[in-house]
Amino acid sequence: MTDLIPALRAPSADAGTGQVRTGTPVSRVDGRAKVTGQAQYAAEYPATDLAYGVVVSSPAAKGRIVSLDTSAAMAVPGVIDVLTHANRPKIRSFDIAWKDMTAPAGSPFKPLHTDRIMYSGEPLALVVAETFEAARYAASLVTFEIAEEPHETALMSHLDRAYKPKPLKAGYEPPPDEKGDTDAAYDAAPVKIDAQFYSGVEHHNPMELFASTVIRDEDGHLTIYDKTQSSQNSRWYVSHAFGLSKDKVTVRNPYVGGAFGSGLRPQYQLTLAVMGALHLKRSVRVVLTRQQMFTFGHRPETVQRVKLAAEQDGTLRAIWHQAIAETSPIEDYVEVVVNWSGLLYKCDNIKLDYKLVKLDQYTPIDMRAPGAAHGVHALEVAMDELAYELKMDPLALRLKNYAERAPVEDKPFSSKALRECYELGAKKFGWDQRPLEPRSRKEGTEWIGWGMATGVWDAMQMFARASAVLHADGKLVVSSAATDIGTGTYTVMGMIAAEAMGMPLEDVTFQLGDSTLPVAPIEGGSSHVATVGSAVAGVCEKLQKTLFKHAKKVAGSPFEDAKFKDVEFVAGMLRLKRSPATGMALTAILNDAGMVRLEEKYLMLPNMLKQRKYRRLTHSAVFVEVRVDEETGTVRVTRVTSAIAAGRIMNTKTATSQIVGGVVWGISQALHEESYTDHRLGRFMNHNFSEYHVPVNADIHALDVIFAEEDDRIVSRLGAKGVGEIGLVGVSAAVSNAIWHATGRRLRSTPMTPDKVLLGED
Ligand code: MOS
Repeated sequence: MTDLIPALRAPSADAGTGQVRTGTPVSRVDGRAKVTGQAQYAAEYPATDLAYGVVVSSPAAKGRIVSLDTSAAMAVPGVIDVLTHANRPKIRSFDIAWKDMTAPAGSPFKPLHTDRIMYSGEPLALVVAETFEAARYAASLVTFEIAEEPHETALMSHLDRAYKPKPLKAGYEPPPDEKGDTDAAYDAAPVKIDAQFYSGVEHHNPMELFASTVIRDEDGHLTIYDKTQSSQNSRWYVSHAFGLSKDKVTVRNPYVGGAFGSGLRPQYQLTLAVMGALHLKRSVRVVLTRQQMFTFGHRPETVQRVKLAAEQDGTLRAIWHQAIAETSPIEDYVEVVVNWSGLLYKCDNIKLDYKLVKLDQYTPIDMRAPGAAHGVHALEVAMDELAYELKMDPLALRLKNYAERAPVEDKPFSSKALRECYELGAKKFGWDQRPLEPRSRKEGTEWIGWGMATGVWDAMQMFARASAVLHADGKLVVSSAATDIGTGTYTVMGMIAAEAMGMPLEDVTFQLGDSTLPVAPIEGGSSHVATVGSAVAGVCEKLQKTLFKHAKKVAGSPFEDAKFKDVEFVAGMLRLKRSPATGMALTAILNDAGMVRLEEKYLMLPNMLKQRKYRRLTHSAVFVEVRVDEETGTVRVTRVTSAIAAGRIMNTKTATSQIVGGVVWGISQALHEESYTDHRLGRFMNHNFSEYHVPVNADIHALDVIFAEEDDRIVSRLGAKGVGEIGLVGVSAAVSNAIWHATGRRLRSTPMTPDKVLLGED
């Protein structure tokens, strides 16, 4: 049995030395702990004095709590207290105290703060009991008298009040100023496209429910196990909101069961669990229900318009891309939707515009490839439409307008193997066999179509610290307050350290998921490998140099006259490169220096002066085959080839998994996912897994992942970029384009459900 999956038995390693190498397929080091249930998640940590909190959610979308009655809930045996805005402990009021590290401009949501209700599903009370069952039952008995007010949740009804957001969010880049004269160029060009796109709300729904276990020890210190993409962000938030000193709160998230952006900001179950623990002076756990997973953050509903104009030979003359998205009454959630249209194709006239509309909803939050998922979808479907107007092959149109420099800002790319992605992907897929005419291939009741699209995402690097400790027994422990949301951080960081130090992976432990560890950024934006990985490489280099210095001092040292560049770290040894038989064990060096441990610390700061001279991106080319049943409107995505350019790939196995996950999600975005609002109630109606559709195994067929070679030392010293988000971008556009090719029906809104496939969108 195990012979079928040899990679699961042992990481790929050099025979003899046992040395793991970056750039090879290595199974997750945390895989065994996860599949055997040893890995503990936020809701699984025990405490002897644990109480259970259950959230009561608002049935109204907007209004004021006139009165509330908790007497029936309090009468349930085992119920300890019911916290509401009326009796909650004192918390800070100023917005600044509630700003987490990724908060956008505006006034952050403060649970149980006042009698005002802002959105349907808002937490209005926390019932705390000795058992989960008592808390859950009692929560059903809390009643509210609410003075409801009219709410507005329909984006399409309020487009007239769209406004330009203030760009006050770290990492957010507002659309650039117009390049050229787009309107004039559009009017003058012979071939034009003007298309409108719509994409509904999507919710993240990671497998692990949002949960926080707050363990209070006798002197009041809080150890919080939280589902978050940054233990340090949650620690910061709790300290500020509750006025607790930094050393009174530790946040841990050693395992996270998926998050996809939903854990970039602390969620209200954390606030409520801490509130409960402080109020009751005991440990409290709060776990949201699946339905409550639809009550904080989502990918925003977005409407877009793209106008493209070209010469008869396909030369692009004008790109105009506008997006209007929803946000909450209190914050300006911003994401980069339209800027991608100024990065992909060579064009002299580009105009980009992004606006928001406030609705009576919770603030949206980043969801995998935020902004690009919708924005690149619209651009890439419009490009396909333009190709048909021109009677050109869609891939040929893209190659015709290939950008060698970033078009709007006129900067070079740090690296860009998109052309190789097009070539490798097209070849693997067999694109040259594709008939240009839509609706030209049919088998039985199924129309067969091929579509393609380009994907693009950022290649970011933040700053991070790391520490490394080499112990006398030859074990290495490297630490940083990074996060592994299932992406493979443990494994890749371990590989980087093991390779640098010339040690087997088994001798290296990478510690993450603890707010007391060296500072690391939030795990987001596909930046963790370039960021934390570079810090790990940096701290290991420091450790190497210190070991070398000690080795030179050993009596009769063979390294006495050697320079650092003359030595290598292999098989737990420091060796002379020109004479590998001459070496010392790292443990012997420590021993000789009289040390039981040797620790180094390192701060990795990006070389921003150099980096800002370049546009740093990852790219993809996605090729899709669909079969569309003409009787049922069912779309099957039977084949996908995704060619990715994302710098050096550190672990080809976990990176492939990331891309496969992204492609599956792209299919899901294209065909399945949407949170539907009943605007009479202002509420998401399909807030469960039976009605919020996600693909199952039967929906997913052959997926091919190819990596085009890149080695980008501007993005990171490792040559790596990041692969978390790029796999998703462009997939839904390629599916839409394939549906057009199969059926001759152009679908511009997601998800492309059978009704739209059969009847069209109008
Ligand atoms: Mo990702 S949406 O940057 O967590």
